[in-house]
Amino acid sequence: MAKNSDRTFYVTTPIYYVNDVPHIGHAYTTIIADTLARFHKQAGREVFFLTGTDEHGQKIEKAAAEKGLTPKALADSVVTRALDLWKALDISYDFFIRTTMEFHERGVQKLFQKLVDSGDIYKGEYRGWYCVSDENFLPEDVPLDSENCKTCPDCGKKAALVSEETYFFRLSAYRQRLLDHYAAHPEFVRPQSRMNEVTSFVAGGLKNLSITRTTVKWGVPVPGDPGHTIYVWFDALHNYLTGIGYDWDMPLYEKFWPADVHLVGKDILRFHAVYWPAFLMAGGFALPRTVFGHGWWLRDDTKMSKSRGNVLDPEVILKTFGPDPLRYFLLREIPIGQDGNFSHEAFLHRANSDLANDLGNLVHRTLTMIRNYFGGRITGPEGPSAEDLRLETEFEALKARVFDHYESCTVNRALEDIWVYIGGVNKYLADNEPWILARDAGRRPRLARVLLQAAAAIRALGYLVFPVMPGSAAKIWGLLGEEQTPAGVLYADFRFDGFEPGRRTASPEALFPRVDLETFLAEDARGKDGAEAGFDKAHAEPGVESRRPPGPEPRKEARKPMDIITFDEFKRMDLRVAHILKAERIPGATKLLKLEVDIGTETRTMVAGVAETYSPEDLMGKRLIVIVNLKPAVIRGIESQAMLLAAVVDDKAVIPFFDREVPAGTPVK
Ligand code: MSP
Repeated sequence: MAKNSDRTFYVTTPIYYVNDVPHIGHAYTTIIADTLARFHKQAGREVFFLTGTDEHGQKIEKAAAEKGLTPKALADSVVTRALDLWKALDISYDFFIRTTMEFHERGVQKLFQKLVDSGDIYKGEYRGWYCVSDENFLPEDVPLDSENCKTCPDCGKKAALVSEETYFFRLSAYRQRLLDHYAAHPEFVRPQSRMNEVTSFVAGGLKNLSITRTTVKWGVPVPGDPGHTIYVWFDALHNYLTGIGYDWDMPLYEKFWPADVHLVGKDILRFHAVYWPAFLMAGGFALPRTVFGHGWWLRDDTKMSKSRGNVLDPEVILKTFGPDPLRYFLLREIPIGQDGNFSHEAFLHRANSDLANDLGNLVHRTLTMIRNYFGGRITGPEGPSAEDLRLETEFEALKARVFDHYESCTVNRALEDIWVYIGGVNKYLADNEPWILARDAGRRPRLARVLLQAAAAIRALGYLVFPVMPGSAAKIWGLLGEEQTPAGVLYADFRFDGFEPGRRTASPEALFPRVDLETFLAEDARGKDGAEAGFDKAHAEPGVESRRPPGPEPRKEARKPMDIITFDEFKRMDLRVAHILKAERIPGATKLLKLEVDIGTETRTMVAGVAETYSPEDLMGKRLIVIVNLKPAVIRGIESQAMLLAAVVDDKAVIPFFDREVPAGTPVK
């Protein structure tokens, strides 16, 4: 039975070495795979997502000896931590393979024997330089250094000279077949730039490959010649066959093989795009459709890796933010083929601006209005206007584009497009001003329509972001009173208007935490040791520290001894009742709101540092006290022409409102 490639999707990550626990670089590959797996399920395909660990070889043997452990004990402990990390990152793999699993070892021996039988593997003598860190033989043209040694050109570590009897794989015989395959299947290696590298490497000529070792004990024994163990890369690559049932669950294997995409870092592309297809050709297997070589996450422009000691432990980020902001950041920040520099600043910017502000606030304010104006259930909407319908038609176009982006692994583009639409929905609310509609009982049907459209749009957004942020998407759907998650609806069946009037929505909850950089860095430095993350405290708005926004004075300053002022001095302050006509967030500012207020004589714009205590909807229509003859200040590019009065409780503003109607402009004395 041949695989029907349109109906199934088989995605793999590399299997990770167990010399240490996975870091953000490893998490990246796994998150990409998870996102693709979730999307392809939504697209209606039967998906198999394989990940696991690479547990044999000299690297592990050495790391275990250094720790005073057996290789298996080291592997067991690392696997436990890797499984915890994948759980914390919401990774939905179907099978976790360990190369020490008995069925895998048996499968590798069988596949090895198959190539011995076909004449592709033969016994000979190997003499050459070997890099333990990369588990790789150095090319012959690497020069000797002054100490008569060779250094690995990939990782910069000293290589060891080995000379031993070995089995060779006849790689050279596959040069032309590989080149023909690349030419006939340009999608075999992606991105295109990597295909060019691979093609020129192969065109330059291939040497036969030593695929067994006599000096390494921690490995799968060669069948019938147990003094030799099988080269760890030969062993590891075959996990893609054994992990899908080869030789032990043939119906499963036949359903999913060949793999649709092997996701790999660019450093291990050669193993996957040259050796692996050659092994498969020799064994008579169909070749995977695509090997996707993604870029590296760098720190200070250097690849993050355990041996360089510059790895970033995802634990602190996960503890503070949960999985979705990290998943979002890694996928949004760079196209999958390129390198990216990981910085906490860039991460926090995305988390606060794109997630907490753009998406989080949209969901929060929509649900708040549905609760405040309709008790949680929208009823009696008027028919949609052309503008209302535009929200839907734009979504349909977005849905088609996002489909193509997920399908072609351009996930950052999918997210970019989704965020443009989020901006559009925020604008729709700002233009339609439901808070103003709410003041007029006669406009209730219109209010219902506007909120219905907004609710439908955030449900639709939840659907599209689901592959990247499954937890948050499910939460959005839950808040909207949806019984299933976005995983349960096929892409083709998803309808914008699936949010009907009368549906009971829940009380709004914050979807994403808003975290200040300094606090986060302090937390990171404190040592990832389970200390309390006190991120709910108020912090100065970045960029306005030097100039305090109109609004409450921080308490510490209020405690300073104050000068006595005369009554005449007090009378110089023009304090008045102001009526809030409009309130909105300021993009990129977590603590500020922009208000438009009627002060009796005119309308003024002001910027107030109250966003941590009040949403724009909370303030709409409220009356409060402002000082109107304070010198204006420009904050975030907006001229603030008045300042409100508020109590400051734990660094947060609490505004005194009036308990009865007081006309705007009434003096406060
Ligand atoms: N065990 C082999 C893979 C065998 S697959 C049959 C291996 N393991 S690894 O643990 O060293 O690396 C696994 C993957 O993590 C590689 O694809 C590698 O590119 C990726 N990454 C490791 N550090 C990385 C970054 N700093 N950034 C992005 N990915 C990186 O190689």
